[in-house]
Amino acid sequence: MFSLKDKKAIITGGGSGIGKAISVLFAKQGAEVHILELTAESAQSTVDEITAQGGKVFAHACNVAQHDEVVATFEKIGNIHVLVNNAGIAHVGKVDTTSETDFDRIMAVNVKGVYNCLFASIPQFRKSGGGAIVNLASIASWVGIPDRFAYSTAKGAVMSMTLSVAKDYINENIRCNSISPARVHTPFVDGFIAKNYPGNEAEIFDKLSKSQPIGRMGKPEEIATLALFLASDEAGFITGSDYPIDGGFIKLNN
Ligand SMILES: NC(=O)c1ccc[n+]([C@@H]2O[C@H](COP(=O)([O-])OP(=O)(O)OC[C@H]3O[C@@H](n4cnc5c(N)ncnc54)[C@H](O)[C@@H]3O)[C@@H](O)[C@H]2O)c1
Repeated sequence: MFSLKDKKAIITGGGSGIGKAISVLFAKQGAEVHILELTAESAQSTVDEITAQGGKVFAHACNVAQHDEVVATFEKIGNIHVLVNNAGIAHVGKVDTTSETDFDRIMAVNVKGVYNCLFASIPQFRKSGGGAIVNLASIASWVGIPDRFAYSTAKGAVMSMTLSVAKDYINENIRCNSISPARVHTPFVDGFIAKNYPGNEAEIFDKLSKSQPIGRMGKPEEIATLALFLASDEAGFITGSDYPIDGGFIKLNN
């Protein structure tokens, strides 16, 4: 079950955290993995891990926010069977503490980056007769997370794009679903704790762990397992759905 043998998968942001875990697992399941990362260096540790386990992997330096770069990269890769829109950046702020520059930056990567990859992927899916798209949304798409205005706005858009694409391409055998994790322990989390709460890291880490009723953060490998299921043929009856993976955050808090 859950084999990706003979499938070509593109994973954006596959150099770190959730994207790295997805890339490693997909390669283990037989996929030819194509990582889109800001630089070849940022993809290197994933490439090394997959190569060491005998998997097939290619790294492409590509900023998902740049339309022409994304289209050219997808054309170079050619026909695909799986796309995971994972690349994303974080931001802390309420609407009145979010600068226009920061808002535009978050939208450029977290919304336009997903649009760019969806746009570029459709012709490549058509060559394969269809396939599966998995988008990284967030619990922020579902509930108002305090102090995350731009990030929540962007992740709401990711969930809506998922529905739109699922409807528009259902007759072309392209499935599209999203995953909504609560806090997952990745460099993304460590980075924003260090940046926004310097000197207070341990206390904030503990607080963020306890914000999931289950009492801890998720592991990147747990998100990767769900992504694998949704990308696999075993999930062939699933499209236009979002899957929270959140230690009870959405339904069990309060
Ligand atoms: N970690 C969490 O708690 C959490 C929770 C919910 C959703 N998510 C979502 O999961 C996804 C991955 O998060 P993560 O925690 O693994 O992040 P991460 O920062 O560890 O990794 C993100 C990767 O994306 C790459 N990237 C960033 N901007 C890019 C761009 N413009 N073009 C190409 N690559 C780019 C980075 O180089 C990095 O390797 C994000 O979309 C994030 O919003 C994360």
